[in-house]
Amino acid sequence: MLVNKKYIKRHKMGFVYFHWINAISFFLLFLTALPLYTDTFRFLYDMFGAATLQYAHRVFAVIFIANPIIGLVTAHDGIRRLVKEVLSFGRDDIVFNQKFPAELIGKEPEGIPPQSFYNGGEKMNILLQAVIWALLVISGAVLWFGEGLVSPAIRTWMIPLHSICAGFGFAAAIGHIYLALGVNPDSMQGMCDGTVKASYAAKHHGKWIDELVAEGKVTREEIKQAVKN
Ligand code: HEM
Repeated sequence: MLVNKKYIKRHKMGFVYFHWINAISFFLLFLTALPLYTDTFRFLYDMFGAATLQYAHRVFAVIFIANPIIGLVTAHDGIRRLVKEVLSFGRDDIVFNQKFPAELIGKEPEGIPPQSFYNGGEKMNILLQAVIWALLVISGAVLWFGEGLVSPAIRTWMIPLHSICAGFGFAAAIGHIYLALGVNPDSMQGMCDGTVKASYAAKHHGKWIDELVAEGKVTREEIKQAVKN
């Protein structure tokens, strides 16, 4: 569980690949659709051709849809963890979400309760991204294959639904990236080699550490030493 007496194994590599394929395919879907919304991005059509970008959008859509399905095999521990964490949303997560925003303006808020594998904000992000994924896939599938299968009125409603989900997904992704790179840069290592500093884990995910100790995967003494290293 401990790596080089300083780091803790947090994510398996299958989950790391799952995360990056999801992130990259989401941004490429967004980028290939942008010229449909604003002339500012019309240059993308001029550069690559409208037909090519529209074709690329469908290729990235297939990757975006297939990734979590394949992930059920290649990243099953990590995906099971996402579901378990969202379902365990409780009081400590609510308190975290009330207190945490002060950190965004450089303060050190008092009284944040120890957090589990994912904190209250991450749990909300997971749920939001999962709902957005499902709505994007359903509305996208109706737009792609729905002609003659669903009523024209329903197909018409799928256009704003698809766009609103893309907008919310993008805004949430920007917030998520800011939190990962700007507020908690130590979390990034977890999405690179799967490990995080023990000091980071103890500070931000105390309940997860308690869980590892209770399961006998690491001792309290080893954690103390790793935090010092
Ligand atoms: C450059 C872009 C991105 C960076 C730097 C980034 C970084 C990270 C990091 C460091 C974690 C691990 C957090 C932890 O171990 O506690 C994570 C988790 C996660 N990422 Fe990203 N990510 C990016 C893009 C995205 C995008 C585009 C999505 C969704 C479309 C996404 C969805 C998630 C989800 C659902 C999790 C698990 C829970 C959470 O931490 O909120 N990520 N990301």
